Amino acid sequence: MKIFIDTANLEEINKAVSLGILDGVTTNPTLLAKEKSEPQTQIKKICAVVKGPVSAEVTHYDYEGMLKDAEELSRLAPNIVIKIPLTETGLRVTKILSRKSIKTNLTLCFSPLQALLAAKAGASFISPFVGRLDDISHRGMDLVCDIKKIYANYHINTEIIVASVRNPLHVLEAAKLGADIATIPYKVISQLLKHPLTDIGIKRFIDDWRSLESFLKHKSNSGS
Ligand code: E4P
Repeated sequence: MKIFIDTANLEEINKAVSLGILDGVTTNPTLLAKEKSEPQTQIKKICAVVKGPVSAEVTHYDYEGMLKDAEELSRLAPNIVIKIPLTETGLRVTKILSRKSIKTNLTLCFSPLQALLAAKAGASFISPFVGRLDDISHRGMDLVCDIKKIYANYHINTEIIVASVRNPLHVLEAAKLGADIATIPYKVISQLLKHPLTDIGIKRFIDDWRSLESFLKHKSNSGS
């Protein structure tokens, strides 16, 4: 499973790049607003450090505005993917972009039928939001499972990005279901790596090594 980071924060992106685990980035207007900098400049900076796909979202919701946003964003870097909300306008714009070979990520997906329509319109990626469904007592992972099944039935190539990931179990379930990608906040990426037995094991190695060093030092000082 590919791992994308769900952030517009360069420090977090650079840390994930340095771990050697990063395949791409997803941003959205909320994440970019947190950075308090000019959004297109921020997106360009992100594209300069990440080779994989970087999703940048349209911020107009009418047809002309959305298409203009998409065309502007697509010129920022070759690895830009245009993130588009799952609306009628979004599908119309997706169809146009797909014909121009501009990659799209259809976002705010909350139903398998939305995902089917997105694929038919030519979406490169679909983003089911599992955390936001869990928040309202619907099983987010059931949506991923349904999309996976429908796409397999019809040999659809649209890649599934498990989005709105809130905890390591979301990532585990995504991988077990065979999702193509999970887009994960930095905090959750760190949690994936953590295991108390790893920390206890390292502490024991350090303690044992120090006791060997002090034993050898003592031995050499006493001349025996
Ligand atoms: C995905 O592309 C979205 O940017 C993101 O996963 C939304 O997550 P949230 O529901 O935690 O805001």
